[in-house]
Amino acid sequence: MVARPGVVWITGYSGAGKTTVARHVEAALRERVESVISLDGDDLRKILAGRWGYEDDDRRELARVYFRLCSHLSSQGSIVVISAVAMFKEVQEWVRDNVPGVFIAYLDVPREVRIARDAETKGVYRGAGEIEATYDEPADPDLRIANHGPVTALQAATRIVEAVLAAPVLDPEHGRAAHWAGYYSSQPAIAEPSPFGQVVAETLPPSQDVLDVGAGDGRDSAYLAARGHRVVGLDPSAAATERARRDRPEADCTWVTGRIDDHVDAWTGAFDVVYSRFVLHSMTEHEEQLFWDAVPRVLRPGGRVHVECRSINDSGARRGEVLSRTERIDGHYRRYAVPAELERRAAAAGLEVESVVESAGLAPWGDQDPVVVRLVARRA
Ligand SMILES: C[S@@+](CC[C@H](N)C(=O)[O-])C[C@H]1O[C@@H](n2cnc3c(N)ncnc32)[C@H](O)[C@@H]1O
Repeated sequence: MVARPGVVWITGYSGAGKTTVARHVEAALRERVESVISLDGDDLRKILAGRWGYEDDDRRELARVYFRLCSHLSSQGSIVVISAVAMFKEVQEWVRDNVPGVFIAYLDVPREVRIARDAETKGVYRGAGEIEATYDEPADPDLRIANHGPVTALQAATRIVEAVLAAPVLDPEHGRAAHWAGYYSSQPAIAEPSPFGQVVAETLPPSQDVLDVGAGDGRDSAYLAARGHRVVGLDPSAAATERARRDRPEADCTWVTGRIDDHVDAWTGAFDVVYSRFVLHSMTEHEEQLFWDAVPRVLRPGGRVHVECRSINDSGARRGEVLSRTERIDGHYRRYAVPAELERRAAAAGLEVESVVESAGLAPWGDQDPVVVRLVARRA
């Protein structure tokens, strides 16, 4: 469970006091959080070897670089504090859409105060034109806070830290709902079961209660039901479950729209098998954690979870836009699984991991042969 935001972006115009406030925020967080990384926009600009100038396009591109770096670092378990102006609408939107648990604190300081401070430091207000016209003030910061007059930088930082620690962590959407809705309304349903579905089916005793998490339009749910199991096909995409209902009238399954963590209380100890194919790589890390929290609760003692998903060693993990160490957008969002981490998460959920296999050749599809990870774990 991600307990706190991963990136704290302290922003405001030049002279708003971002660097000083950020230092206080960093110091306060270090007392409470194991790993804190501090980045400063001016320093980053120099570290990146003066590759970018001060033209509008350069500033925007550099801002995108900053937040890709922040996303990369925070996805490895750190809280990143960044002080940077970088206030461009598209950058703010990218950050909101793609960086888990971002917290934007805007330092609201009147122009005349900023100009007075700036005269002693960088001199950005001395040039021609209005610096404000270059940027888009954040429309929806998580916190807008004064940093002038009676409010000291330490007080502003203290309020930011309190708000950061109290903030809920929201999963970025990454455009997934629209992707799956479009996919299930345009692609033909696949009639035959997946290779993984067939392999798992061979291992099951008769008449099992099976929960298919991320069932899509139900190819494997329908197959398992046809083999005499009682199957709930669960998927958060209404387009998927509606199509399963419509296009597989013969399938004796229960189709449910939603996620496993929505149903844990109703389904406690209700299943012999949790089955999930090609779904974990569609989840954010936080959603995957919710999945592992739920699996041992919905399984009966002795029940098993079978998962198959794309591995970080699949060639797809080298393509597309890089969101973090494991996340890419190549047409749509994927988070590639690191086999050892998958195993660790299943074990941390209290499950006994029986097998972890990583290979190509297990899930061929058309001309594709992805490298996948298969994991089987048992509830004691
Ligand atoms: C590649 S499809 C796999 C569908 C099906 N299991 C199959 O093998 O044909 C991925 C599915 O994961 C679902 N999904 C995405 N996020 C999910 C989540 N947090 N929990 C459960 N399913 C999710 C999507 O709606 C989509 O139907």
